[in-house]
Amino acid sequence: MIETTALGPNLGVSVTGVEDLLDETAVSRCLEALKWRGVLLIRGLHLDDAAQVAFSRKLGTVLAPGGQEIFTVSLDPAKNRSAEYLKGTFFWHIDDTTSKVPAKATMLTARHVAMVGGGTEFASTYAAYENLPEHERKRYEGLRVVHTFEAAQRLAYPEPTEQQVAGWRKVPSHESALVWRRRDGRRSLVIGATADHVVGMDPVESRALLDELLAWSTQERFCYTHDWAVGDVVIWDNTGMLHRALPYDPSSERTMHRSTIAGDEPWS
Ligand code: OGA
Ligand code: MN
Repeated sequence: MIETTALGPNLGVSVTGVEDLLDETAVSRCLEALKWRGVLLIRGLHLDDAAQVAFSRKLGTVLAPGGQEIFTVSLDPAKNRSAEYLKGTFFWHIDDTTSKVPAKATMLTARHVAMVGGGTEFASTYAAYENLPEHERKRYEGLRVVHTFEAAQRLAYPEPTEQQVAGWRKVPSHESALVWRRRDGRRSLVIGATADHVVGMDPVESRALLDELLAWSTQERFCYTHDWAVGDVVIWDNTGMLHRALPYDPSSERTMHRSTIAGDEPWS
């Protein structure tokens, strides 16, 4: 029997008792749990790539950047040619903030775990928004934020070479509402490492506001930390979950296989 258990007060759910991941009932329970809890954990699945892709396809359209449906998350350049950029995952972020339409969900399967560290932390920006005092919610209405890849990479490489900066700047920036009001009326904050500045605001004030909102959103009560065991699968609602990898040694074996499910609603 499929059972769900909350992982924390504001987000996260663990699903047990799934016999067939491709069964329609199991899939709709997972999608519903993901929608309301933001982070879905199924332990001990040990999916191979084909099974991960098959399950991902049940949740939506699987993205295949560069023709690959499975992306290897590893800081080892031998396993991942863009390992360098993944240092950015150590900072709170939302994926795809520089795209028009963000990915709906991301799935990670733990293939190897780090001996020390290497957990993944999640923070719900739905919960963060809902718990803001009324006057603050009013103040944020209408504010717009420019997101850049450069802003995120600068956190990982505070003293970049000119070549690095030129590379980062090839990724177009994207402006979106600070408070995203979705078609279904739910609201969340769009912040994190890529948030470069608030449009039209004094730069110092803008930085302070973005930092303050990030600190608010990543309070323990809005967070869930996952300590990985090999075979675990975690899926998160990328549109509303800030996330980051907790530090681990780049030479550790930690390897995640990642698949991404396309979104269907543009940032507002
Ligand atoms: C990602 C990501 C976090 C991790 O793949 O988008 O942020 O813990 N990963 O590896
Ligand atoms: Mn990410």
